Amino acid sequence: MKFVFSILVLLVSNAFAHNTELPTELKNSDREIWITVGADAVNSFQKSVGLDSAVEHASQDGITVMKIKESDIGAMSHLMHEDFNRCGGFVAHESEEEAYKELNSGAERLFAEKAVLVDYTIDQNDLVKSAIEQVNEFKMRSTIEKLSSFKNRYYKSSTGVDSSKWILSKWNELAGSRTDAKAFEFKHNRWPQPTVILEIKGKSEDVVIIGGHADSIAGWFGRENAKAPGADDNASGIATITEVARVLLESGYVPEKTLAFMGYAAEEVGLLGSKEVAQDYKAKGKNVIGVLQLDMTNFNGSELDIVMMSDYTNAAQNAFVGNLIDNYLPGVKWGYDKCGYACSDHASWTSAGYPASMPFESKKGDMNRNIHTSRDTISQSNGTADHAAKFAKMALAFMIELDK
Ligand code: BES
Ligand code: ZN
Repeated sequence: MKFVFSILVLLVSNAFAHNTELPTELKNSDREIWITVGADAVNSFQKSVGLDSAVEHASQDGITVMKIKESDIGAMSHLMHEDFNRCGGFVAHESEEEAYKELNSGAERLFAEKAVLVDYTIDQNDLVKSAIEQVNEFKMRSTIEKLSSFKNRYYKSSTGVDSSKWILSKWNELAGSRTDAKAFEFKHNRWPQPTVILEIKGKSEDVVIIGGHADSIAGWFGRENAKAPGADDNASGIATITEVARVLLESGYVPEKTLAFMGYAAEEVGLLGSKEVAQDYKAKGKNVIGVLQLDMTNFNGSELDIVMMSDYTNAAQNAFVGNLIDNYLPGVKWGYDKCGYACSDHASWTSAGYPASMPFESKKGDMNRNIHTSRDTISQSNGTADHAAKFAKMALAFMIELDK
């Protein structure tokens, strides 16, 4: 539908590019429409039609979402053509949601271009293979069990804070006495649960990140006191991240780039923690070359083992992760699917302009139906972390191959 409408706009823009006279149908229509347009054109357009008729709603990576009067489409086309030398130059959308989707995919295109600069070669065979061999399913299982033993890990509850402090001390234990490794809290002002970050500092300014949310949730009322073990969603992701950190640190791996491991706060209530972290990295101009989101890794619901979510992620990096699986995890089957919305923290990194991927435990349609209930326990995965172990191996390959 958006496509048809865009064509219509292009036709209108061509027909009236050299003619300021508008047809009466357009003049008389007062319907408001959503458009995306280059951010550089916003001021001129507002000047020409008035601030009230052209309201800017969001801006990202040079693209602006705005609401304009349908009757101003002609004026917009004219402006774009005469002053900005663009034919068309903007896209009209059927709904606000469509416009925001375009804003995200516009950003995606930009990252895809940038991603050409990221080295996606696979040539660290010896290092990756020996790291993969050290993945210990039993240790991952015990992390899942420990995290799901908290009553809940809700972002506003005391056990939500305690469980994140447990992750902090676990990660600091792994860092041990190394002077280049340390875990710390990224505090949030609006709620008590911190995001936890473990960094292994490298020589360069580049950063490679693996992360997942540490919080859990169940029910609608009294969430502070509800039983929310969140074994799959997302103790499994945190156990996966913890195991990657353990293998790298215990093997004495010294990185070129900074490796960061993140347990985000408050994902279940709208990606709140990761949004603040990603925006902080963006504001500081940090050079994040890749982000891997691990959210739900231990429920083997599909024929495929690992399913790459293709929306709100970076296509070039997704393909790289697929190649890593083919190369290092023979027998592990992978494919693509979509969440259909900004379903987890990878979307926060995508919005901040960084390449992110979200390898998931199953196809969306085969997902674990017990998440967000008191039944999300490790028994739904036969009491093992076998499925999550595949993700730990993939994430090790991701970090080591990007770290060069
Ligand atoms: N782990 C889920 C996301 C998920 C669920 C991905 C099922 C794929 C399949 C995540 O913790 C979650 O619940 N996200 C929310 C959205 C968020 C913005 C509050 C959701 O999916 O409703
Ligand atoms: Zn989750």
